[in-house]
Amino acid sequence: MGLFQVKSYIEYFLKAGHYKGHGIHSPFMYELVSEVLWDKYHYYAFDDINIYRSLLYYSDKEIEVTDYGAGSHKLKNTRRKVSSIYKNSAIKRKYGEFLFRLITRYKSRTIVELGTSLGVSTMYLAFPDKSNQIYTIEGCPETAKMAREAFEERGMNNINAFTGKFVDVLPEIFKKVDVIDFLFVDGHHEKDATLEYYEMCKAKAGNNSIFVFDDIHWSKGMEEAWEEIRNDEYVTLSVDLYQLGLVFFCKECRKQNYTIFF
Ligand SMILES: C[S@@+](CC[C@H](N)C(=O)[O-])C[C@H]1O[C@@H](n2cnc3c(N)ncnc32)[C@H](O)[C@@H]1O
Repeated sequence: MGLFQVKSYIEYFLKAGHYKGHGIHSPFMYELVSEVLWDKYHYYAFDDINIYRSLLYYSDKEIEVTDYGAGSHKLKNTRRKVSSIYKNSAIKRKYGEFLFRLITRYKSRTIVELGTSLGVSTMYLAFPDKSNQIYTIEGCPETAKMAREAFEERGMNNINAFTGKFVDVLPEIFKKVDVIDFLFVDGHHEKDATLEYYEMCKAKAGNNSIFVFDDIHWSKGMEEAWEEIRNDEYVTLSVDLYQLGLVFFCKECRKQNYTIFF
């Protein structure tokens, strides 16, 4: 954690409330916090993903990486160890498992991910239901290739993996998709880029869509992007979990911004 993140984490910690759902009046939010966020049920799919995690953790393979977007504070070279890409980029277990539970609970069918990397987060998006369709985009060809091989080896045929820049590939995906039920933005962590992806995907948001943004407190620019998104007139409910920011579009919900400890 850099200085900026330490400061923003302290602010988040002081603001965060509703630990495990106590004191939340909205039934929707109460259910989200007590039954989805803090659900401890262990799904078998988590074991499969953990095996893939171990393979990446101990891998001594190296690949040529093409740098896209703001990427990581740490990774700079072009030839990189897969294990180091995994350690620096892959979603942490607790957040991945939360995405899995969100998709399961809210029955998201059409899922779009920006930033496949080695495919760890994609697996949490794809495992809940084999008939869901996942569209995931990765700019770096060698990383994308590794992810695609991992999906194929596991027979994950519901993943449509695209290689290219987010802005270039999204219009292609939009031709196949009417409504994005679930969006996970985990790449190119810069203010303008994040807002651009939000605007593009918002055109495909439905009443029950859930958009999730990673690293919303990664930098001042990302915090500004997050504030703009959560205050957008189409967003009726937002949840700041520090690492992840969630926005909902349900017209029946009363406009509210939550900061929840997780
Ligand atoms: C943080 S990693 C994604 C990690 C992955 N979601 C996971 O949890 O396993 C971000 C990825 O987005 C890719 N990326 C960043 N900006 C991009 C862009 N503009 N177009 C395409 N890919 C991009 C990077 O190459 C990187 O692999």
